[in-house]
Amino acid sequence: MSKRKILVTSALPYANGSIHLGHLVEYIQTDIWVRFQKMQGHEVHYVCADDTHGTPIMLRAEKEGITPEALIARVQKEHERDFAGFHVEFDHYYTTHSPETRQHAEGIYTKLKTARLITSRAVEQFYDPVKQMFLPDRFIKGECPKCGARDQYGDNCEACGAAYAPTDLKNPYSAVSGAIPVKKASEHFFFKLSDSRCVDFLREWTTSGTLQPEAANKMREWLGEAGENKLSDWDISRDAPYFGFEIPDAPGKYFYVWLDAPVGYMGSFRKLCDDKGIDFDEFWQKDSTAELYHFIGKDILYFHALFWPAMLRNAGYRTPTNIYAHGFLTVNGEKMSKSRGTFITAESYLQQGLNPEWLRYYYAAKLNSTMEDIDLNLEDFAARVNSDLVGKFVNIAARCAGFIEKRFDSKLAAINLNDEPIQKAFQYTFENVQNQGRNSEWIGEEYNSREYGKAVRWIMAVTNIANQYVDQEKPWELAKDPSQLERLHYVCSVGINLFRYLAILLVPILPATADRARHFLNELDPYTWKNAETLLPEGHKINSYDHLMTRVDPKQITALVEASTESLKPTTPQPHSQQRHAQHQENVVETTTQPATISIDDFSKIDLRVARIVNAEQVEGADKLLKLTLDIGTEQRTVFAGIKSAYDPEKLKGRLTVMVANLAPRKMKFGLSEGMVLAAGDGGGLYLLGPDEGAQPGMRIK
Ligand code: 2FM
Ligand code: ZN
Repeated sequence: MSKRKILVTSALPYANGSIHLGHLVEYIQTDIWVRFQKMQGHEVHYVCADDTHGTPIMLRAEKEGITPEALIARVQKEHERDFAGFHVEFDHYYTTHSPETRQHAEGIYTKLKTARLITSRAVEQFYDPVKQMFLPDRFIKGECPKCGARDQYGDNCEACGAAYAPTDLKNPYSAVSGAIPVKKASEHFFFKLSDSRCVDFLREWTTSGTLQPEAANKMREWLGEAGENKLSDWDISRDAPYFGFEIPDAPGKYFYVWLDAPVGYMGSFRKLCDDKGIDFDEFWQKDSTAELYHFIGKDILYFHALFWPAMLRNAGYRTPTNIYAHGFLTVNGEKMSKSRGTFITAESYLQQGLNPEWLRYYYAAKLNSTMEDIDLNLEDFAARVNSDLVGKFVNIAARCAGFIEKRFDSKLAAINLNDEPIQKAFQYTFENVQNQGRNSEWIGEEYNSREYGKAVRWIMAVTNIANQYVDQEKPWELAKDPSQLERLHYVCSVGINLFRYLAILLVPILPATADRARHFLNELDPYTWKNAETLLPEGHKINSYDHLMTRVDPKQITALVEASTESLKPTTPQPHSQQRHAQHQENVVETTTQPATISIDDFSKIDLRVARIVNAEQVEGADKLLKLTLDIGTEQRTVFAGIKSAYDPEKLKGRLTVMVANLAPRKMKFGLSEGMVLAAGDGGGLYLLGPDEGAQPGMRIK
């Protein structure tokens, strides 16, 4: 097989939010593919970066009182930590706020301009006169024009689902400052996607047969029939203030974040090339024979299959070999939700001590090459990992290793590739899979075509063969009969070799466990796919077996869900859905949706009281909560407070604090919480508020 040159990307995550289990579907999917291709001996480069520009990031930094540069540097570290935690191994992880991305964005823009594919015209938009900035749709709120629901975003109503333009909202206000927005015109730059050079090229490119069938259908829908032109020009500029790259020769105008985001793929790769002496042009020049794959979510297909190839083509670069879009993640059959505790961040999963490879395996078992959504059913997750990985896979080694170590000085017997159990497993023309021949090459093809679910099924079929073999041969019985010593040696050596075969097939999915298996098997070099075709030689010494994987304890899942539920504080902005609305990056907002100021009447709606903590106790099964009994003069209230990490309940008893006395009671897993105590800080430290000496329980705080 000739060595392929392959450049692979995953979508660049926004630098204003944490990596969660929804994101991980894509990074795990890509990482498995990349690891598989690397095992084949191909030259593969996997690059990614944080997507750092745009209004939400600018506003969030402002809210935190730091520069956008400081914010994106911090978030990048968190993202890199989370990816490493799930064994997602990029060859380079970067930021779009880089000189390399700027250089390529400017270069592409200039080439498009020279080709007369950039045009400009005035656009009228809502403008915040207090904040002195144009407002993206998602930063305008008001009453739904259809059902009248209050505080709806500028693009669609969460109450009735209606879609509309921000200018349709009744009584609109700026979600940034609370001001009433005014309409104002300004000059915008457009990429002429409607130009026949783009349309004709896209029509040909999208029907060349490589796109996933569902993607190709979408493209047909967007492009319309031959002769029809349904594409509109694309607005690629935003006015200051904006965190991004200023457009050359256009002071005060910035590239829209979605223009430079995919250029970030190039920027990240360029930096890798500069650092490692790789030839950048070989991968990006017009006639490149290298392969280029973008793994993305189906919601951003429009950007990757229309804008991006059209930009590349007309700026003189190669276009992607393919775009691999996946579906969304649901948890327990529903959209991830903070209130149900299913909006789970990568950090929280790892902090609860769950093994990242459990998730990699579960996702792999569910993934295929289509854009179908996948469901993480938490009960099924535990059952499947326990049964497949612990009960079937590592069990093979556990059943055979001890005999080899104790009876045979850790040395393996000679096995012939043509012996029956090996034949069965390697070729496996066996009955469980209806006599269809499946071997490592076949399983490899499932990986190559992103049919991981099928690969997992075949691999599990091999674990069944191995376990059935051990069941039949009963090494524990053979061990009792001295005349069967040789047979015992042979049977256990077959078991160990089959385990090794499986470990190699599982490397892309379980890189860390496979690595530990390799150390147990006393092999020095990382596995390649070819290794699956070989056996360990006679006399090969293995190391002592240490348990390779623990079972999922259902309690861990409960704790994870609980921790994810508890992290919901009343002031937390609503989560953005993982479904990034295709045409409006600016939808992805995590900023205040409150006006910047409130009236004294608003403040006086909060009934703050001095409260004495008459009792404080641990809550069984809760990681973060303490149960407090608070005396507020006229009555006693029970409040579950997330302050366990900072306070010993004994030391709280008798103390005065401040509580919100008119907060609607909230039913929690452990009982009803009838208010909230006030504390400063967060995960890094928590400080309960207390009034000055002399205050009495029940006093109103004004
Ligand atoms: O949708 C998103 O999360 C974007 N940050 C993805 C960008 S992918 C690429 F174009 F950079
Ligand atoms: Zn509505």
